[in-house]
Amino acid sequence: MSNILVTGGSGFIGSHIIETLKAANHKVFNIDKIKSDFGDSYENIDINNSQQIENYLKKNNIEYVYHIAAIANARRSLENVHETMINNVAGTASILNACANSNVKKVILASTVWVYNAADKTDGKKVNDNIILDEKSKILPECGGHFYTTSKLCSEFICQDFKSLKNLNFTILRYGIPYGPRMWPGLVLRSFTENALSNKPIIINGDGSAKRRFIHIKDLAKGHLLALDSKADNQIYNLEGDKDVTIKELANLVSLNIDGVKVEYVIDKSRTGELKTDSIEISNKKIKHELGWSIDVSIEDGVKTYIDWFKNKN
Ligand SMILES: NC(=O)c1ccc[n+]([C@@H]2O[C@H](COP(=O)([O-])OP(=O)(O)OC[C@H]3O[C@@H](n4cnc5c(N)ncnc54)[C@H](O)[C@@H]3O)[C@@H](O)[C@H]2O)c1
Repeated sequence: MSNILVTGGSGFIGSHIIETLKAANHKVFNIDKIKSDFGDSYENIDINNSQQIENYLKKNNIEYVYHIAAIANARRSLENVHETMINNVAGTASILNACANSNVKKVILASTVWVYNAADKTDGKKVNDNIILDEKSKILPECGGHFYTTSKLCSEFICQDFKSLKNLNFTILRYGIPYGPRMWPGLVLRSFTENALSNKPIIINGDGSAKRRFIHIKDLAKGHLLALDSKADNQIYNLEGDKDVTIKELANLVSLNIDGVKVEYVIDKSRTGELKTDSIEISNKKIKHELGWSIDVSIEDGVKTYIDWFKNKN
């Protein structure tokens, strides 16, 4: 059992990581700007207050830190570039600095498969129509094509620097598209469910043929627990789903669970710069082979249990 800090533990992903760590008998501390009861202890500390965090880490003998807090909504970062860099880039530097000055053994960083927008696509293996990219794919300095992606690439680079310059261990987890209870408005399954339950049409951006590999939040959180292992020190892992699901198929799954769903197709210009996964596949083999990670929740079960949760949440 370890003392563990989760930054952003009141949010969608952080709250599930806390639940998984607590179920494994760890003592979990949460710092977040929003109050919640998920951890054993909560403190309202901004991640950019490095000195306060350092004091907090020392006072509570924190051994591992999951750095999850960030501006997670890419559409918000498109309009708020400075705020994104302050929270995602400076915030990561602040957390890592505090960890390097205390007795933290490792920082586990929340990143995203969107960093593969910056990957050298000629480097990947071609299988059928797909180019398969993995953690070894080269990242090109031409950048990720989105402020959010760039902020996450910078966070990853800062982790690498803290390892080489201050000997602070890291594990970087690049998430696919997580879904499940407590997901925020704007994430696709939540918006489909909300609309369908209030008799509004489901709005699909484009023609619905875009493919996604969703990952259930329980499977994502399980990967975080496995990342505590020293085998994962100074490694990068993709936490990506297994199965291609088109947005149209997702809408059909929603309509299997909710009667009378209507669908409308639109073009949303705020989606510019996002990772397009139609002809690339992000491999999840490394975390399966090295840490024994597996996917337990099928998209069919995940959508059904999400809709049940949503109906009963109030
Ligand atoms: N949700 C996704 O689709 C997705 C996909 C890939 C990666 N990620 C990454 O996962 C992490 C968590 O995302 P989420 O979906 O749970 O987002 P979220 O918005 O639900 O949670 C983020 C939490 O961080 C807190 N926070 C933000 N800035 C802070 C600051 N300066 N000081 C203290 N607390 C602060 C917020 O209050 C919030 O509770 C983020 O790093 C995000 O970039 C998310």
